Amino acid sequence: MEIKNICCIGAGYVGGPTMAVIAQKCPDIKVTVVDINEKRIAAWNDDNVNNIPIYEPGLAQIVSEARGRNLFFSTDVDAAIDKAEMIFISVNTPTKTYGIGKGMAADLKWIELCARQIASVAKNDKIIIEKSTLPVRTAAALKDILYNTGNGVKYQILSNPEFLAEGTAVKDLLNPDRVLVGGDIDTEEGRQAVKALCDVYRRWVPDNHILTTNVWSSELSKLTANAFLAQRVSSINAMSQLCEKTGADVNEVAKALGMDSRIGSKFLKSSVGFGGSCFQKDILNLVYIAKSFGLNEVADYWEQVIIMNDHQKRRFADNIIKTLFNTVSGKKIAVLGWAFKKDTNDTRESAAIYVADHLLNEEAEVAVYDPKVEEAQIYSDLNYLGTRSKEANRKNSQVYSDPYEACKDAHAIAVLTEWEEFATYDWEKIYDNMLKPAFIFDGRDLLDIQKMMKIGFIIKSIGKPTELKVLADSTALAS
Ligand code: NAD
Ligand code: UGA
Repeated sequence: MEIKNICCIGAGYVGGPTMAVIAQKCPDIKVTVVDINEKRIAAWNDDNVNNIPIYEPGLAQIVSEARGRNLFFSTDVDAAIDKAEMIFISVNTPTKTYGIGKGMAADLKWIELCARQIASVAKNDKIIIEKSTLPVRTAAALKDILYNTGNGVKYQILSNPEFLAEGTAVKDLLNPDRVLVGGDIDTEEGRQAVKALCDVYRRWVPDNHILTTNVWSSELSKLTANAFLAQRVSSINAMSQLCEKTGADVNEVAKALGMDSRIGSKFLKSSVGFGGSCFQKDILNLVYIAKSFGLNEVADYWEQVIIMNDHQKRRFADNIIKTLFNTVSGKKIAVLGWAFKKDTNDTRESAAIYVADHLLNEEAEVAVYDPKVEEAQIYSDLNYLGTRSKEANRKNSQVYSDPYEACKDAHAIAVLTEWEEFATYDWEKIYDNMLKPAFIFDGRDLLDIQKMMKIGFIIKSIGKPTELKVLADSTALAS
């Protein structure tokens, strides 16, 4: 089966970078990425490639190489569906905010719309690929819709979940640990479809990194992978609190653990809490699925990962308030970093949003600086929570384009994203312009504690003994 035209529905954080890499590696295949969001498509087509809507290191270069050659961005969804032999569905699947499963189940409304649109447009057989992260057994629902509303054409439905992480999307796509393809491997047509997709990836991914399974294993593996990764972060974050109480250093503990090859060293970095569009939504989805099968112990087990994460964000904010003499009312608190991790402009579920919201509840004046996140996004994130009016958010929080201005006259600084530039600032200058005592709350363990204390800061870092200043003083006395 020769693939000449690929269509991807959804030009977001997954659809855009994934298709850019496929187009770069398969110059003979025409790849069209479509979206109903006109603004987003216009940004992907912007003459200045640095204005594409998603910031990912290395992405602009790949887009500029392939765009206009065999990579196209369009709002004409029907035309792209019609021409393609292979259609990736890469639309959003957020947590439901209404009705049955509210706050837990994945909202599959956009997936269903795609299936209905494909069924109404398709005039010849198609391979449909689930690229979005979906509840296990969604392929059965897709099949139902496609066959019940279609024009008699045949469909093969494959699951090909995406494992890229934001900030390293290009690197992850070029060198994936594995490409997972689930299909109807019990039939000849199913095997052919699986092969057609694997052949696309084989252009640059070694055979031993391409794994084929049945559809349900593939769908469930994606949710499980995210749950396992998030679980590691919650596990080390649980330990961070114990470290703060006992004098252990969470980094040293993580290093000691990670050297055990059975545990491994990755995803053991303690933080203010994991964010991002997927960990929380995918675990909640897993919890919902387990509950729907009556597997309550399984559901409770995974829910604890979220409970721990919420606790970590909350206790970070509480610690700021407690340390600032039990009140932040009227005090300027500088928030460095709004993105959910470095090297991305994505803010979905970022810990910074929840920490800032909590501080605003305590009447703090929050001053935000992030090198890649736009002001409108920051207000939109706060407004989305609905904790207070838009006007109140505008009044009590300010967004700065200069970090030194954000920190000027502040009582405290909270480091919430691990942007490397934060470590390179002139911290003496920042200290001189702050109110005293000048506090730093490092939610990413980014800053050099000894250096900061020498300047005069009182610094509290996740997973480090709480009374650092006292410890430092006693060390000084002893020497
Ligand atoms: P996103 O919100 O950035 O992009 C989704 C896009 O789909 C939006 O631009 C939206 O306008 C478009 N869309 C929705 N319905 C449409 C329709 N009917 N027709 C045309 N366009 C439509 O989402 P994302 O971050 O790219 O995530 C997409 C999926 O991939 C989700 O299921 C997510 O769980 C999964 N995923 C995300 C990541 C990640 O790092 N963001 C990684 C792996 C998997
Ligand atoms: C995550 C997974 O890593 C990807 O494999 C998956 O494809 C993706 O979710 C998805 O399905 O959306 P992503 O959310 O982009 O990717 O970023 P991660 O690097 O996983 O970070 C998630 C959050 O955990 C961030 O807030 C990060 O700061 C935090 N984190 C990560 C830690 O606090 N400690 C760590 O050791 C690792």
